[in-house]
This record gives sequence, structure tokens and C-alpha cells, in this order.
Amino acid sequence: MAYQKCINCGSEYGIDEIVYFCKKCGDLLEIKYERSELAGALKKSQWRDAPLSVWRYRDFMPISDPSRIVSLNEGGTGLHLCKRLAKHLGIRQLYVKNEGENPTGSFKDRGMTVGVTKAVELGVKSVICASTGNTSASLAAYAAKAGLQCAVLIPSGKIAYGKLSQAMIYGAKVIQVRGNFDQALDVVLKLSEKHRSIYLLNSINPFRIEGQKSLGYEICDQLNQEAPDRIVVPVGNAGNISAIWKGFTEFHELGVVKSLPKMTGIQAAGSAPIAQAIKNGMDTIVPVAAPETVATAIRIGAPVSWKKAMNAIRESHGTAETVTDAEILDAQKTLARVEGLFVEPASASSIAGLKKLRENGEIDKDERVVCVTTGHGLKDPDTAVKMSEKPVEVDAEITAIEEALGLKKQIAVLAR
Ligand code: F0G
Repeated sequence: MAYQKCINCGSEYGIDEIVYFCKKCGDLLEIKYERSELAGALKKSQWRDAPLSVWRYRDFMPISDPSRIVSLNEGGTGLHLCKRLAKHLGIRQLYVKNEGENPTGSFKDRGMTVGVTKAVELGVKSVICASTGNTSASLAAYAAKAGLQCAVLIPSGKIAYGKLSQAMIYGAKVIQVRGNFDQALDVVLKLSEKHRSIYLLNSINPFRIEGQKSLGYEICDQLNQEAPDRIVVPVGNAGNISAIWKGFTEFHELGVVKSLPKMTGIQAAGSAPIAQAIKNGMDTIVPVAAPETVATAIRIGAPVSWKKAMNAIRESHGTAETVTDAEILDAQKTLARVEGLFVEPASASSIAGLKKLRENGEIDKDERVVCVTTGHGLKDPDTAVKMSEKPVEVDAEITAIEEALGLKKQIAVLAR
């Protein structure tokens, strides 16, 4: 039987207990399984034959009744071999795991399918989260599918337009908070403690992390049960890097995969408490009071899962790096133009981070690297339009088009 366990003091809680932080020491919880339970799941033959998706791994998830699963067909995203970008960055082999291919356009759907299924199992009627955008879009969609009431708190004026439109159209109660994400999360934590009937689905909820660990399982399966040398992940509230690591360590303990990847977290320079702590060899983070970056998804100064993320980075002998807004936007453009993959700015930070770590020699040219791109480019069309060349406007007339395409000059040269 699966149970919840404190990552600090080891206190245990039942799988159906609604508890967000350890009651004894206040630290984060994670889902644990009896070893025999996971080993049993591994032996069941069906999962290897099932199509790639989060629910291919249902026997490794803490969900008891498969008939109540709330799914929009999440997971099974492409692991794109990027030969042209690899050459550009001077790396032996580079894959991009493109999470923008999920139903609401981000990796959050992996966590929400499990988190909202758990909400249904628990019999709650309303769900809530604070979000920089993608979590709210995802929760709103899964709550709609499950027929649950949904409220989302977002930092006023600081979420990308695509994400806002999603939360609104899926019918969530959208509350814009005058403040940043950290303040919105703080208030939603207090609210869900006070109103116990409202179920909190931020990534402190360990059922979210269970869904997201499928990202690790999937990368492993897509590489024919091999681990890459390194996985580079954008880090915000720090749930995802911890989840991917959990997926890999579980598969490693079960003998599915023989080695483990170095987990490498990338943060935006203006919101980088974890990267700073790793670089300075510190045991805790110093929260950033006023985080700032063009990558609004990771504009977070006090990541709630910082301890899990730092454990993942240190246990895996990985590292962390910061990237500037200019480096993020440059990487976003390069990925789109060299590989045809349009991702949102926060996602491109993994590519920008790889470039930086290659240039400073921390990543070797012979490594096999997977960069995770976490959200679709259409989430934030404003930034993409702002940084691209403006379209030209001409009359619907052939000579005007020839001029715009520079064909007239070519004809003149040929005629000479
Ligand atoms: N990339 C994107 C596109 C995100 O939306 C987020 C987080 C991250 C990376 C960072 O992931 O928090 O697990 O370290 N977005 C959250 C949200 C905070 O509210 O949508 P993390």
C-alpha cells in the first residue's frame, strides 16, 4: 500500500489523508510504496505493451480505482532528436522532450491527471491553486472534465495571455492577486488549511509529483531503458525536477534502468534562489523578494519544493545555472528556427542553460543530453511577436510581392 512520508522526519500519513505539510516538522511530503508493490507492478506485463502515456504507468501510481481516472490523454510527448541544434551547441547527442505536446500545452497535465483523479477519489467538490499560468490552465481543464468547482489565483498582469485565456474558457473562477506568485501561493496555502473542503493542487501536493514522475519513466522508455547522461530542466517552484528524479530513481531501484542522469536545473537570473544556493554550496535557499524575468512561468522567488530539488541535483551529481532574459529569448528563437519547435520562454531556459554550461565547460561535448521544454510557445504569443521581425504589408499584386521577397533584385542581377 502506498503512503505519504515526510522528507525530513520520516513521519507517515495514510494515502487518503488530506495533509499538505508534515504535522510534526512542517516539511514536504512524498508518496512512498512498499518495495514489493512496485516490484509487483513491474512484473505485470501489460504496461510495456500499452501506448506511451501517463497511464501506461498506472500500476506505479497511488490510484486505486482505474475506472475513475480523469484523463485528457496526457503524456506520450515527443522526444525529439535535435541534430542541427546539437551541432550548433557542440554536443554529441541532444534530445528535446517537448512537453508542450500535452493536452493543455504543458507538463502540468501529467500531474493534474493524477491530482484531480485523487480529488475525485477523496470525494472533494472544489479544487484550487496559485499559479504563474500553466498550473491554472491545467487544473481548470481537468476540473472541468471531472465536474469539480475550480478557483485559480494568478499574479495580476504577470501571466501570459494564452494561459489566462485557457483558465477563463475552462470556466475556473479566476482571481488576480495584487502581488507576485509567492504571495498568491502563501495565501492559497493558508486558505486551504482554513477551508479544508477545498483541495489544494499546487505541486506541494505529492499526488501531482507522482503524475509528473512519468516524465522520467517516459524518457527512460523512449531511450530503450537507458538513462541519458544529463537532463536539463527549467526550475520555478521546483516540483518538476524533483518529480523527474523520482521517476528515474524508482526505475533504477527496480532495475529497469542501469544508470542515472545528472539533474541540471536552470533558473532565470532574476529569480534564481536554487541556482545560487547550489553554486554557493549552501544548505538552504535565500528567497528572492522581488523576482523578475521575461519567463513569467518561472518568475518565482521562494520555490516551495526547493529542498526536494536541491536533493535531486546533489544526489545525481548534477548542477544548476542561471540564464539572462536575453539568453532565454535567443534560445527560444534558435530552437524554433533550427528545429521547428516553438516553446514558451521558460521552456527555452533549458536550451539557454545547456548552451552556457557547454561554453563554460561544465557539460562535456561527449554527453548525451535531454533538455525538457515545459510549455508550448503559443502560451505566450505576445513575447514571440515582440521579438520577431515584423511582417511586411503590401498590396495583393505580384510586383509588390516580388519586391517584398527580393525577387526583383535577383531578376535585375540575372538580366545583367
Ligand atoms: N516551465 C513552465 C512552462 C512552467 O509553467 C513552470 C512552472 C516551470 C517550468 C517550472 O516548473 O515549478 O515544477 O519547477 N509553472 C508553475 C505554474 C509554477 O503555476 O504554472 P516547477
